[in-house]
Amino acid sequence: MANTITVAGGGSGHTPGILLTALKFKEDFPIKEVRLYDIDEERNSDMGIIVDYLLKKHNTGIKLVVTEDPEEAFTGCDFVFSQIRTGGMEMREKDEKIPLKYGLVGQETCGLGGFSYGMRSMKDFLEMVGFIEKYAPDAWILNYTNPESIISESVRRQFPNIKIINACDMTIGIEELLENSFGYDRRNFIPQYYGLNHFGWYKELYDVSRGKDVLPEVIEKIKNEGFDVSDMVPSWAHTYRVMEEMVKNIFPDHLPNNYLQYYLYEDKALEEDPNYTRANEVMDSRLKEIKDTVAKIKENRELDTIGYESESHGLYIIQIAISILHNKNDHFMLIVPNKGAIPNLREDAVVEIPCYVNARGVEPTSLRYDIPDLHKGMMEAQMASEKLLVDAFFEQSYQKALEAFALNQTVPNATVAKKILDEFIEANGDYWVDLK
Ligand code: G6P
Ligand code: MN
Repeated sequence: MANTITVAGGGSGHTPGILLTALKFKEDFPIKEVRLYDIDEERNSDMGIIVDYLLKKHNTGIKLVVTEDPEEAFTGCDFVFSQIRTGGMEMREKDEKIPLKYGLVGQETCGLGGFSYGMRSMKDFLEMVGFIEKYAPDAWILNYTNPESIISESVRRQFPNIKIINACDMTIGIEELLENSFGYDRRNFIPQYYGLNHFGWYKELYDVSRGKDVLPEVIEKIKNEGFDVSDMVPSWAHTYRVMEEMVKNIFPDHLPNNYLQYYLYEDKALEEDPNYTRANEVMDSRLKEIKDTVAKIKENRELDTIGYESESHGLYIIQIAISILHNKNDHFMLIVPNKGAIPNLREDAVVEIPCYVNARGVEPTSLRYDIPDLHKGMMEAQMASEKLLVDAFFEQSYQKALEAFALNQTVPNATVAKKILDEFIEANGDYWVDLK
């Protein structure tokens, strides 16, 4: 049976990649209707023009709806792919630049920038989940709205029974990098990985084709040869160079998620230009590309390569949908309530671990081993600060927000925590709930 999918945050530059991937898998994932839902009318209609072009070019016969109305967007849909970004790139730029002004890490999902984004995201995301619960109670929400640990924690509290799968493509990105750098085939991997979102470690990388754990040799290769970052933009190349440092110096037995550098190698993160951050890079590339593409389509110019085909983002999300529809039990790294999966971590943690996906939804694996103190301690501090932020949101509490900011591992003292919190309250305005 063909599906109706709603892309929430339809105006995002990731939308074409998701759709093109879906079209590639049309046998397993047939679509009858695509709805683009966004609160930004201009971006949504720009993307509508691109999607309309693609659907026609591929002769799909799929119906397209472009809407800013949640009732029209969600009523009767089967899947919601959510990638909303409240405040767009303009606010991402502030999230990155405000902490940098104080000499602290400025990153969209980590440190205080991630907290600023988290407060914005929770407000819109929870409202949207409310709409989905009302208009499409049977739909699956496949969510990759950031910052995902914070979003997942807030959803766990307000909508404990909603049909949501929280997924992040970063581990896929890492595995693809191993593939490209050292010649592995990531489809052969059965990984053992644990952490919070953008905050975790591979403990093992079992390679089915070799019948053994290849993580020790992967670590040696990273130390001796380094990653191949030749086709990356400067900011991502820098990220993976610092990841090499982490492997060499602080995590000799594990492969860390690259995002951990923001908590352990702040000095390296601060080497980047504070006046031209990743938000600027994205505005000058991905966002500009959307405008250029729309202009070309309007002038009836043929687009040979639209450049969106190779996104791991889209592949991940479509494969999850297929695993649900066909009860495939494929494994993915997903963000789920701990409930004993990591035995020496609190039950109500929201953790990222390997899970199987089938017609019932997510079946998390149980790790059944205790994690080392270094990882546990870092995770507990991070989790507590995130939980405080979620408390601050629900209780509208300035005090809790300040505690969250002060506890964040990128923050050296409460004086600067308070200054940055006050500046973020000002910069975010109505994007945040009022804190009393
Ligand atoms: C990875 C992360 C995402 C994040 C993205 C940022 O894919 O897993 O959570 O949103 O990187 O990419 P960008 O190109 O926007 O800097
Ligand atoms: Mn992510």
